[in-house]
Amino acid sequence: MVEELAVLKRKLEREKRARKAAQALLEEKSRALHDATQTLSDANATLEGRVHEWTREVRATHEALKRRAEELSRSQQHLARAQRIAGIGSFERDLRTDEVIWSEETYRIFGIVPGATPPTRQEMLAFVHPDDRAIIETSIATHEKGLSAPPVEFRIRGRDGTIKWIYLELDVILDYEGNSTGRIGTLRDVTELRAAAASQKELQRQLQHSQRLEALGTLAGGVAHDLNNTLVPIVALSKVALEELPEDTPVRADIETVIRASERARDLVKKILAFSRKQDLVQQEVDLALVTREAFQMLRASLPATIEIVEQIGEVPTLFGDAGELHQVVVNLVTNAAQAIGSKIGSITVSLWPSDEASSHVGGTGPSVNLSVADTGCGMDEVTRDRVFEPFFTTKGVGRGTGLGLSVVHGIVTGHGGKITVRSAPGEGTEFTLSFPALDQHETRVQAEAAA
Ligand SMILES: Nc1ncnc2c1ncn2[C@@H]1O[C@H](COP(=O)(O)OP(=O)(O)OP(=O)(O)O)[C@@H](O)[C@H]1O
Ligand SMILES: [Mg+2]
Repeated sequence: MVEELAVLKRKLEREKRARKAAQALLEEKSRALHDATQTLSDANATLEGRVHEWTREVRATHEALKRRAEELSRSQQHLARAQRIAGIGSFERDLRTDEVIWSEETYRIFGIVPGATPPTRQEMLAFVHPDDRAIIETSIATHEKGLSAPPVEFRIRGRDGTIKWIYLELDVILDYEGNSTGRIGTLRDVTELRAAAASQKELQRQLQHSQRLEALGTLAGGVAHDLNNTLVPIVALSKVALEELPEDTPVRADIETVIRASERARDLVKKILAFSRKQDLVQQEVDLALVTREAFQMLRASLPATIEIVEQIGEVPTLFGDAGELHQVVVNLVTNAAQAIGSKIGSITVSLWPSDEASSHVGGTGPSVNLSVADTGCGMDEVTRDRVFEPFFTTKGVGRGTGLGLSVVHGIVTGHGGKITVRSAPGEGTEFTLSFPALDQHETRVQAEAAA
């Protein structure tokens, strides 16, 4: 019994020790767990902090990228707008991939919708005018050899069919080692620029022409003036000599020839003087209807009967000008008309009419007086028509025409603030139409000029 009790007691002791050990182990495990939980929680906090930080960084990067994208888009828009204003397009070709980029303006220059696939080199060459393709090919070939080529100008026919002049400049794109990896170019639509340059050239030509005419006028005027002085005694003394010669002497015929020739020379001198405007002008109120009728009275006698004269002379307002000069205008125009009809049967129609509207006379905005001289003569081809007002231009033989008639007419008409136009075709006759500002219109103009 005592023994059993002792065994039981030992067993109890063992269990007690075992429980204690288990308790200690549990405590130890619990501490470890606590430590692990703590570590985990620390790690979690660190991680959360990191995630927070990363999120902030990502957000900042995203913002920066967004700003960059906006800046890029703004600068692309700026470039596109600048190219559009300047009419300059650009393109780039990557020689390694053959990839091509065109700017919007380049598309526009070629008349292609922006964003479409850029044409290949062959397709691009198809746009170029056949006569200009060689220029482009030479320029590209020079670039492909790594050499620089001067800018070139060529024509293209856009998709919309318009012909444009393009100024092309090419440059080579190099990598870090200096190898050529691509080609960049700018294209400029210079169509309008070329047109402006051409019209400037034409203006220059016209200016030179009128300067030459002015110089010629001055020279001719000087010569004519001296010649006129020389002719006065010849005509006057020949007439005196003729009067003093007996009726039956054969010398009379010679003197008469001298007088006729001198008078012809004097007429010519008068024309030259009028052309160079060295004559004294008598500016006053003039009735062009009266001047025209008087001129006709004088001309009628010298015109052949085969030429019918049709007068359509209406009442017109007066002009401010020189009656003598205006008389000369009618005489010159009718004489030319009669010469164009020659010995054939024909008619000359002279019309005079007023118009209230802003008419075709130079700078005109008020009433005008219009005169036209139309004939059924031989007419003129385009080359002649373009040159009729040129001094000394004549199609008549030597000794028959001086070519000064119409230049004198032109000078007188413009001197009166008027305008002259011609309509003619071979075999279809000719019509000269003149338009002068009426007197009140002239006064208004003078007043306006004085007020300006
Ligand atoms: N009515 C017309 N019909 C056909 N041709 C004309 C007419 N008027 C002028 N011409 C052409 O214009 C040219 C120049 O005319 P313009 O009057 O200036 O000189 P011209 O008649 O030849 O010589 P001039 O008048 O000095 O005797 C003429 O030679 C002629 O060829
Ligand atoms: Mg003439």
